[in-house]
Amino acid sequence: MQQKIDIHDYFSPESFKRIKDLADTQETPFVVIDKAIVAKHYDDLVKGFPIAKVYYAVKANPADELLALLNEKGSNFDIASIYELDKVMAHGVSPDRISFGNTIKKSKDIRYFYDKGVRMFSTDSEADLRNIAKAAPGSKIYVRILTEGSQTADWPLSRKFGCQTDMALDLIIMARDLGLIPYGISFHVGSQQRDIGVWDSAIGKAKVIFERMKEEDGIQLKMINMGGGFPANYITKANSLTTYAEEITRFLEEDFGEDMPEIILEPGRSLVGNAGILVSEVVLISKKSNTAMNRWVFTDVGKFSGLIETMDESIKYPIYVEKNGELEEAVIAGPTCDSADIMYENYMYGLPLNLAIGDRMYWISTGAYTTSYSAVEFNGFPPLKDYYV
Ligand SMILES: Cc1ncc(COP(=O)(O)O)c(C=O)c1O
Repeated sequence: MQQKIDIHDYFSPESFKRIKDLADTQETPFVVIDKAIVAKHYDDLVKGFPIAKVYYAVKANPADELLALLNEKGSNFDIASIYELDKVMAHGVSPDRISFGNTIKKSKDIRYFYDKGVRMFSTDSEADLRNIAKAAPGSKIYVRILTEGSQTADWPLSRKFGCQTDMALDLIIMARDLGLIPYGISFHVGSQQRDIGVWDSAIGKAKVIFERMKEEDGIQLKMINMGGGFPANYITKANSLTTYAEEITRFLEEDFGEDMPEIILEPGRSLVGNAGILVSEVVLISKKSNTAMNRWVFTDVGKFSGLIETMDESIKYPIYVEKNGELEEAVIAGPTCDSADIMYENYMYGLPLNLAIGDRMYWISTGAYTTSYSAVEFNGFPPLKDYYV
C-alpha cells in the first residue's frame, strides 16, 4: 500500500508555498506549474548533455507560458502538428529551430511546414518519405528506428513509430534518390524509461546504420535524435538526470568517439512533469457493501480530465493530502459516468481514514501530459485549467 508521501521529497518548501498560495485561491480542479522548476530542469539538461541540442516536445505541455520561457532560454522545438507549429511560431521561434517529429502526417501538412520554412522532418515509411520529397523538396530527413525498452518504460511508445534497421537503410538511400538530405537517425526508447541500458542498444543500432550507409553507399549521416524518455519523479523513483546523462554520454563516446554526430534530445516529461501539481477535491467517499474493506474515493478529476496516463495504472502519481492519521486502502476514481474512469484500483493508495468530502488532493508531478490530454466536454466537464507561477 502506498504510504503518506512527504511533499518535500518532491518540492522545495519555497516552491510548494508558491504553488499552494495560488492553489488556495482557486476552485478545483486545476494544475499549477512552477516555471522556476521547468527552467532548472532545462538548465540541468543542457549542463548534463553539453554535446546535445534540446528540442522541447511541445505535446507534453503546450502552454504559452512554457513556450515563452523555453524560447527565451534558446530551446528548439519538436512539433507534432500544424497547430503546435502555429503556436510555437507565434512566439517568434524561427523555423530552423523546429523539427516536424511526427511520422504520421498529411501531405498538405508537410507543405504547410515547408511553406513556414521548416526543413527537418522525421519519417519511418516509404509513403511518408515520398510525400516529404514532393511537399518539402530538399529537406533534411531523419529516419526513426524501432528500439527495445517497452517492458521498462512506464509509458511505452510501442511499435507504432519507427522501422527495422533494414527498412531504415532503404529509406535513407531512397531519401537521397528523391533529392532529400539523408541527415540522421532518431529513436524514442519509451517515455519514463527506467532502464538506461536501452539507450546503449539504440545508439548501437544507429552506429550500425551510420557505418553501413557510409561504407556501402557513401552516405555520411550527421545526426542522432535520441527522443525523450528521461524521467520525472513519480511513486516509483527513477535514477537522477545526472546518471542518465553520464551513462548515455558514455554509450555515445564508446560508439562514436572522435566522430561524434550532432545529438538532439526531445525531452517532454523530464522538463515539465515535476513542475506541476494538479489539485482536486474529494466529491464522494463510499463503500460497495456494509462489510467492504476498501473505500472508493471519487474526486473531481479523472482519466478524461488530465489523468489519462493512469490508464493501466501506468503512471503512479504521488498523491498528497493534508490530513494525517491512520491510513486505509482506497480505490481512486474520477467524476464521470464512465466506468473506465478509475485511476487506481489494483495499486492501492493509503489515504487517511479521516479524509472527507471536500478535502483537497494534490497530485504531484503532473506538469506533463495532463492539460494537453484533457477532454473538452466529456460529461459536460470543462477542460482542466492551468496556472503558472
Ligand atoms: C517524437 C517524440 N519526441 C519526444 C517525445 C517526448 O518524450 P518524453 O515525454 O518521454 O520526454 C515524444 C513523446 O511522445 C515523442 O513522440
